Amino acid sequence: MLLFDHVSKSFGDLRAVDDLSFELEAGEVFGLLGPNGAGKTTAINMAVGLLEPDEGVVRFAGEVFDRDPREAKNRQALGLAPQSIALYEELSAEANLRFFGRLHGLGGAELEERVAACLDFVDLTDVRKKAVSRYSGGMKRRLNLAVAIIHDPDLVLLDEPTVGVDPQSRNAIFDRVEQLRDEGKQIVYTTHYMEEAQRLCDRVAIIDRGRLMALDTVAALIAAHGGPGNLVVHSDDGEDRHETTDPLKTLGELQARQAVDHFQYLPPDLETVFLNLTGRALRD
Ligand SMILES: Nc1ncnc2c1ncn2[C@@H]1O[C@H](COP(=O)(O)OP(=O)(O)O)[C@@H](O)[C@H]1O
Ligand SMILES: [Mg+2]
Repeated sequence: MLLFDHVSKSFGDLRAVDDLSFELEAGEVFGLLGPNGAGKTTAINMAVGLLEPDEGVVRFAGEVFDRDPREAKNRQALGLAPQSIALYEELSAEANLRFFGRLHGLGGAELEERVAACLDFVDLTDVRKKAVSRYSGGMKRRLNLAVAIIHDPDLVLLDEPTVGVDPQSRNAIFDRVEQLRDEGKQIVYTTHYMEEAQRLCDRVAIIDRGRLMALDTVAALIAAHGGPGNLVVHSDDGEDRHETTDPLKTLGELQARQAVDHFQYLPPDLETVFLNLTGRALRD
């Protein structure tokens, strides 16, 4: 449905996206994982036609993106929850959804049905009449997601959808993303939180300085670039860390030499993958 073919975009001397290629597979949550400034939002903006690539092409449903705003076909199939929340603060949740629904050509009973369904989807029905200015960060994020799907798009792009939200809203957003996937939507999910990519994404593109460093399932990325894990062993002497790819064997060897009180195995994760690929930590 969405294809990036050697796409680059610069701002002045800065190459924000550098020769990026990937293709969405059916039914997947596709992750763009990278630190702040990696080029994720720039890529998303090209995916939805807000920015035009300097080089390469973005294809949507097999066609080069039609950037003409009068061309409704593309817009109907795409839903974007932008990183910087795009809501009318002085309007209620309900009024925001009605407004954006009308922009997508909805009206009458159909619009009211969609508004009610989307409020319910993000669990804001009870507060639907409150002005958005009185919402918490988590509630705004959830409404931002509801606006992205008001027109029931096939492809939903979520740009850092959990920034500035409480843990409860964060979990609610995870559940909703999984629900959208189960309903058959294609999802592009950008984040700089490796736990989110690890939990939600079927495949993850690791992006650094505009470049694609690796693209695969989480398990395959860890297998290829994760390196050894760490066996943390506690004994009378205190805590010791041992790098190992075979924790049971290492534990056995240690137990032959010393009394192990308790232990913990820390397998490699996407953080380790990023570190091994770039030489830098994902978190700064
Ligand atoms: N409109 C713009 N003008 C100039 N520089 C920009 C603009 N948009 C993004 N950048 C720069 O491009 C790089 C990538 O930004 P962005 O795509 O927002 O990254 P991310 O979303 O991964 O944090 C950053 O260095 C950012 O400062
Ligand atoms: Mg961004």
